[in-house]
Amino acid sequence: MHRTAVLTLCRRVFLQTLRHLCEEVPRKLRVSEALSGVGLGKNVQIQGWVRSVRSQKANLFVDVNDGSCLQPLQVVSTSENQDPQLTFGSAVQIRGVLKKSLHRKQSVELEAGNIYVVGECNPLDFPFKIKERHKLDYIRQFPHLRSRTNTFSSLLRIRSEAAWAVHSYFKENGFVHIHTPIITSNDCEGAGELFQIEPSCPQNEDDNFFSVPAYLTVSGQLHLEVMAGSFSRVYTFGPTFRAENSQSRRHLAEFFMVEAEVAFTRSIEDLTTVMEAMFRRTTEHVLDRCPQDVDLFHKHVTPGHRDAVEAMLKAKFHVVTYSEAINILKQSAQTFAFPVNWGCDLQTEHEKYLVKHCGMRPVFVIDYPYQLKPFYARDNRDQPQRTVAAVDLLVPGVGELCGGSLREERLDLLKARLEEVGLEDTYSWYLDLRRFGSVPHGGFGMGFERYLQCILGVDNIKDVIPFPRYAHSCLL
Ligand code: 4AD
Repeated sequence: MHRTAVLTLCRRVFLQTLRHLCEEVPRKLRVSEALSGVGLGKNVQIQGWVRSVRSQKANLFVDVNDGSCLQPLQVVSTSENQDPQLTFGSAVQIRGVLKKSLHRKQSVELEAGNIYVVGECNPLDFPFKIKERHKLDYIRQFPHLRSRTNTFSSLLRIRSEAAWAVHSYFKENGFVHIHTPIITSNDCEGAGELFQIEPSCPQNEDDNFFSVPAYLTVSGQLHLEVMAGSFSRVYTFGPTFRAENSQSRRHLAEFFMVEAEVAFTRSIEDLTTVMEAMFRRTTEHVLDRCPQDVDLFHKHVTPGHRDAVEAMLKAKFHVVTYSEAINILKQSAQTFAFPVNWGCDLQTEHEKYLVKHCGMRPVFVIDYPYQLKPFYARDNRDQPQRTVAAVDLLVPGVGELCGGSLREERLDLLKARLEEVGLEDTYSWYLDLRRFGSVPHGGFGMGFERYLQCILGVDNIKDVIPFPRYAHSCLL
């Protein structure tokens, strides 16, 4: 045979084999990819969990979801594929051809060749029932299974997207991400709500593992202050821990905090600008990227909350001083359980009243009494009521979302304050930061779970974190 003919034949055989191999091994698709039309007309494979099964004449319809999006993919097969193990909640692997659907609710469907049940699920024992929208406090009892419900999987996708948006906000604005330690020897907030760490089997009874008492961090702020002194703009986003013996709907023993620290800043306004921009950017991103998941909450879990979120985004955040806030509360016709006096800590009932008074929009309360805030807050040196340049952001439905301040950068004032509270030795390294190239700076922390409560309207903080930890509860 002529050499060219041999080459042409070889090429044809090679291409045919390649095509055959490609056809034989169906492409694995996520449900979200299939629903957006990837793999249309091709042999594909889907893996996931059954949301519903129904038989109609000669056809079998199975809805499958793999967590990539809220909507399931409809699989159509013949009733020969009916299998007693193919039940709501079972895990399946399905191969078939992805086709255009004539049904108005979906654009594609999978015409299945074979349906393989990977893991059975007995519907009588499974705590969730088909087609039922269980309440958040019911599914909370099953932290190991609740991500299988539509509601909680939507929540976790929103949480993931919001976390991504927070990182991207800081990246776009020139902040350096710092991994601040989880184990620390300081109590940044000075509130004594620390979990102390000890080895479970100490090598030597008298020995302290770290040679100093060590705790789970309540805030990465002090470590961020170190880094702001080199990078100017830094942030961290990680777990923080507070031993608050509270069963409230806004407190956890372990929660995630977004914290930022900005050097060369002299005004509280520089901080409130960052807080407001981060809130808006993150919220707009979530509304844009997770429309179905957010709708599930705004339509079925917390009906009407969408309007509240849109109103928050439309309005400019309001600013009041602590003293103005006290006057507003004093003039209110409402009777508060906690009395209102200049110098008192604002309670949830006060925070909610202030937000309502300001038209249900976020409110920054600034310039708090000196005695109410930790040692690091910058002294305003005002008279007759001494205040510090601290700020809390209050939001509808939740109350306090963020807390921050300008930091005391003046060595003599910081030293005097640390002496006042007997901490000058503990914080000698912190004083060093004011000795070597000190600059005016400030920062804030935002409770990430409270943020999710705020945009979704979820009443209980335990319903916006995968595995809630609080007093007398540490499941799993
Ligand atoms: O106001 P906090 O205590 O501020 C700090 O920790 C500062 N060191 C942060 C900083 O300036 N870098 O906490 C910040 C936010 C609160 O506004 C609240 O949203 C949230 O953290 N938070 C909690 N969230 C859930 N459970 C708890 N127990 C919380 N305690 C505070």
